[in-house]
Amino acid sequence: MKKILITGGAGFIGSHVIRLFVNKYPHYEIYNLDKLTYAGNLENLQDIENKPNYHFIKADIVEGEKMLALFKEHQFDGVIHLAAESHVDRSIENPMEFIYTNVVGTVNLLNAARAIWKEPDGKRFYHISTDEVYGSLGETGAFQETTPYDPHSPYSAAKASSDHFVRAYHDTFKIPTIISNCSNNYGPNQFPEKLIPLFIHNIKNKIALPVYGQGVNVRDWLYVEDHAAAIDLIFHQGKTGETYNIGGNNEWKNIDLIKKLIEIMDNKLGRAAGESLELITYVTDRAGHDLRYAIDATKLKTELGWEPKIKFTEGFDKTVDWYLANELWLQRIVSGEYRKTIC
Ligand code: NAD
Ligand code: DAU
Repeated sequence: MKKILITGGAGFIGSHVIRLFVNKYPHYEIYNLDKLTYAGNLENLQDIENKPNYHFIKADIVEGEKMLALFKEHQFDGVIHLAAESHVDRSIENPMEFIYTNVVGTVNLLNAARAIWKEPDGKRFYHISTDEVYGSLGETGAFQETTPYDPHSPYSAAKASSDHFVRAYHDTFKIPTIISNCSNNYGPNQFPEKLIPLFIHNIKNKIALPVYGQGVNVRDWLYVEDHAAAIDLIFHQGKTGETYNIGGNNEWKNIDLIKKLIEIMDNKLGRAAGESLELITYVTDRAGHDLRYAIDATKLKTELGWEPKIKFTEGFDKTVDWYLANELWLQRIVSGEYRKTIC
């Protein structure tokens, strides 16, 4: 029997990873450890919450003693660590929360693993990270696993720091770690502070669309279930001590993505073609805004055979449909009602 600790499982990506593991591995015991910050929402997991192999632990990874006690109590065989403060704009407003959760929280989990895993054979500490640690690209090129770290936002600086600690614990204490760095995810259950769900909500409700700067920044978008599938593969087949880049090979300039979204939504909402273009509002740029991210995921493809399965046209359409069909989910977040389900 394998006991797997997944942190941040009530968040966007975490909820998709939890669902995949709970359904695909009924012989594993899956423990979702989540503080349920503003970004954690147990409504994301309603379809699997009663499965016998799913367990929820409400806890804060910043509490080191508590992490140690949980490792002692449950004797986890593996960790998939997703819990983090994840939003760049919030990190500009309040960097400290990002240092506590992303850096201190990660080191607390590493310390707990170090204390409890006397025989690290067969154990795995898998840290989920971001392509933002590599910094910003110009018009050409792509991040490789060997690209030097060059984070610019407090969020990416904190994630970069946590990556360094994970590698340091591997090298110094022989903790069997592994890291992946992924590009921008999109799909159901993403908190509507991020570009795509925020703009879906605003277009639907005819609210202005705040485009930072000139909208020329480029992001590489990956459907969240493709990321979850990569995490499953890397957790089971990745090499200890290694890093894997994960990307969608799907670059979009923000303004082009926004115009595509408007085209799809005007059509689905029965509006005249281009009607919602008037909602586009150029606003002051994000401070330190990285121009372009692009991922070279060759290593993951050649070593483990992973490729994104969901084509962007299909994933984007599915995503819009999900938010339109789950208006209540979105409204409960926007109104704050979802917080009332927190135990
Ligand atoms: P999210 O903000 O949607 O979810 C984060 C989850 O972590 C929430 O459930 C929250 O309650 C929990 N959490 C936060 N602080 C905690 C703490 N101190 N203790 C316990 N739980 C805590 O984030 P996401 O977008 O799902 O990202 C998940 C992970 O993937 C993060 O580590 C992020 O850096 C990484 N990542 C995200 C993306 C992306 O596009 N969203 C891309 C690459 C990597
Ligand atoms: O690259 C991976 C990262 O992608 C993850 O590590 C982060 O956790 C995740 O939040 C995401 O970061 P971004 O900053 O790229 O995502 P966001 O959705 O906030 O913004 C996407 C782009 O859209 C970015 O260039 C900023 C721009 N933007 C965003 C918002 C919210 C706008 O122009 N207007 C907006 O209102």
